[in-house]
Amino acid sequence: MKHIPVLLNDVLNALGNMDGRTIVDCTFGAGGYSRAFLERGAKVIAFDRDVNVIADADKLKQEFGDRFKFVSAPFSEIKQLSADDFDDVVFDLGISSMQIDNADRGFSFRFDAPLDMRMDIRTGITASDLINNLTVEELADVLYEYGDIKKSHKLAGLLKEKQPKTTFELRDLIKVPGDVAPVFQALRIAVNDEMGQIKDALNSVDGLLQSGGRCICVTFHSIEDRIVKNAFNKWSVPVGDPRLPVVSKPKYKLLKTKTPSEQELESNPRARSAHMRGVEKV
Ligand SMILES: C[S@@+](CC[C@H](N)C(=O)[O-])C[C@H]1O[C@@H](n2cnc3c(N)ncnc32)[C@H](O)[C@@H]1O
Repeated sequence: MKHIPVLLNDVLNALGNMDGRTIVDCTFGAGGYSRAFLERGAKVIAFDRDVNVIADADKLKQEFGDRFKFVSAPFSEIKQLSADDFDDVVFDLGISSMQIDNADRGFSFRFDAPLDMRMDIRTGITASDLINNLTVEELADVLYEYGDIKKSHKLAGLLKEKQPKTTFELRDLIKVPGDVAPVFQALRIAVNDEMGQIKDALNSVDGLLQSGGRCICVTFHSIEDRIVKNAFNKWSVPVGDPRLPVVSKPKYKLLKTKTPSEQELESNPRARSAHMRGVEKV
């Protein structure tokens, strides 16, 4: 299934008039956001670390020429850009429908496949290797922190003992049915260092964004959302000791937070749990 862009209208509204601006689309996916930005007159620099999206990126390149540039790398590489290279930045985090629906990638417990879960198949370790490499304590932390698994230590011990190599082997070891999806999610987040990536990239964005530049993030997981919320809140408070006379003005203005409407959820149930947050550099 082709990925349906989530909260696209809200993202477009948050960015405002984009004619002539350069937007970094950190998570190209099926290119739904990038295309919308290009059609509204923006230039786009898009990142994605999944090589499977390159064909779609090539199509946009053919259609929009020099206004579109694709970088096949993790978005933490935004630090290689300079402040003059772009105006605004957008993140639409998590995985795409193509990734979850591709039976071979190991993201879904609906298909039997090697337990891989890497967004970038050129590098890094698979979910199966991760289970092998972590200690029981470390694995329990991953399951608890990213999957909210209550008996995480017990399950971590079982996974270490049985060493599942496929999605179905993993699925069948999880005795609580409601834990299956969260366990898959937790391993995916750890395999791809998703929280490290967003923290790293936001740090770079803070250093690079120019006055009037906006950073918009769409998140799908509470921890991810907390990282974005805390970063944006920290950026948008006055700097300095409030007891002293000189306190500099906040560096950023918070934009309105959005969640999908009933109507969007009806047509795209995968949009549930999405939150859009944004800031504008003052
Ligand atoms: C939710 S999809 C984006 C969908 C896109 N907005 C659209 O409209 O088609 C997320 C995409 O971001 C990519 N991605 C996730 N984390 C990434 C990272 N740290 N660096 C680069 N790409 C990443 C995934 O490979 C996936 O293709």
